[in-house]
Amino acid sequence: MIYLKFNSKLIVILSVYFLIGIWISYTFLKPEKTDEIVFSVGAGTKEISFIKEIITEYEKENPGIKVKLNTLPSPTDQQHHYYLSTLGARTKNVDIMRIDTIWIPEFASANWLEPLDSLLSAEERNSFIPITEKTNVFNRNLYAIPWNINVGLLYYRKDFLEKYHFSLPVTWKQFVTVCEKISEMENVYGYLWQGKQYEGLVCNFIEFIGSNNGQIIDDDGNVVINSAKNKTALSLMHDLIWKYKISPQNTYSELMEESSRHLFQQGKGLFLRNWTYVWDLCQEDMLLKNKVGVSLLPKFENGSFASVCGGWHLAMNANSEKKKQAWKLIEFLTSAEVQKKLAMNLSWAPTRSLLYNDAELIEKLPFLLMVEQSIKNIQVRPNVPYYQWISDVLQKYINKVLSHQMEIREALKIMQDKIERIKNDFAKG
Ligand code: GLC
Repeated sequence: MIYLKFNSKLIVILSVYFLIGIWISYTFLKPEKTDEIVFSVGAGTKEISFIKEIITEYEKENPGIKVKLNTLPSPTDQQHHYYLSTLGARTKNVDIMRIDTIWIPEFASANWLEPLDSLLSAEERNSFIPITEKTNVFNRNLYAIPWNINVGLLYYRKDFLEKYHFSLPVTWKQFVTVCEKISEMENVYGYLWQGKQYEGLVCNFIEFIGSNNGQIIDDDGNVVINSAKNKTALSLMHDLIWKYKISPQNTYSELMEESSRHLFQQGKGLFLRNWTYVWDLCQEDMLLKNKVGVSLLPKFENGSFASVCGGWHLAMNANSEKKKQAWKLIEFLTSAEVQKKLAMNLSWAPTRSLLYNDAELIEKLPFLLMVEQSIKNIQVRPNVPYYQWISDVLQKYINKVLSHQMEIREALKIMQDKIERIKNDFAKG
């Protein structure tokens, strides 16, 4: 009996000690609380895996923070739809987003983006290439920190040009002659570009008309798409497919950035219009190694070299509950150090001015000088909240011309009327 009594006393005492032990270790020794932030990013496979590496580095340096990547498909239109439904529903489940330059006024005017002006010093803000102030500022507020700038570039097969003793064509006329000759001899497409009905087509169109000094909306805000210059440019786009037959017929139904790049990397093209990321992928391609050059896109006789200003920047969800942590990650990702890594590994063109003087980068990325050059006549897509409406009109009617369903004159007239109407409707509110 005594033995039993002693035993139960002992059990009670031991249990109390045990519970106190658990309480002490939970209260004092528990690991530091981890904050999770969600970073939403759409990009290609190699880009996503490199971003993951950078994030892992960040988490090691900041043990209290865990970054969850929310990966999206790379085409901009698909990402845009995703954000319309998530940000539109005021989600709190995304903290940082990699956004296309063209969405900034639309998202900012819907109050989906957090203004960032107060978070960075004037000196810091001035360290970015100035063009990003044009695309990232809306109603005088800064809504995204520039991450990578994109410009349309001309990739070409150096080996073919050398073999047939052609120098790099400068005008579209010379370009067509070179394409016709070499594509016939080598059984390759002369020119691969993006003609499917989507945002990439709009970028190509703006470059074609820009290279003839044409515009959609002029500097005073007038819609000027229905012009003789634009008619010449749109005719060329049509003729590359139907008259000269140097671009594949499925340009208007299939060709986007990736599909045109794949054809080029399979050795099926002489020239390719694409963004900076393609440089890196061509360098590591066994078939194309040392055979690819990069240059500015051609221009019309009396026109100018014209590239569209693309790019992806980092913005913060206005409804995020982790803004402090989100900002810290944005600072890290847009630092010159990380941008250099992204440039070295993914051939992303940086947005920090000082990196354009970095000898190692200049050697690795021959297009860097062209990015600087392009900025002189860079084509910024209309920086207005209703850009998507304008883009939808452009995509539809340019594609109708390319697919041979509508006369150029008619398409330009319809686009002029529709864009004017959109502009007036939005002006009325
Ligand atoms: C690239 C550009 C982006 C553009 C898109 C069109 O991703 O960076 O600005 O809207 O291509 O496909």
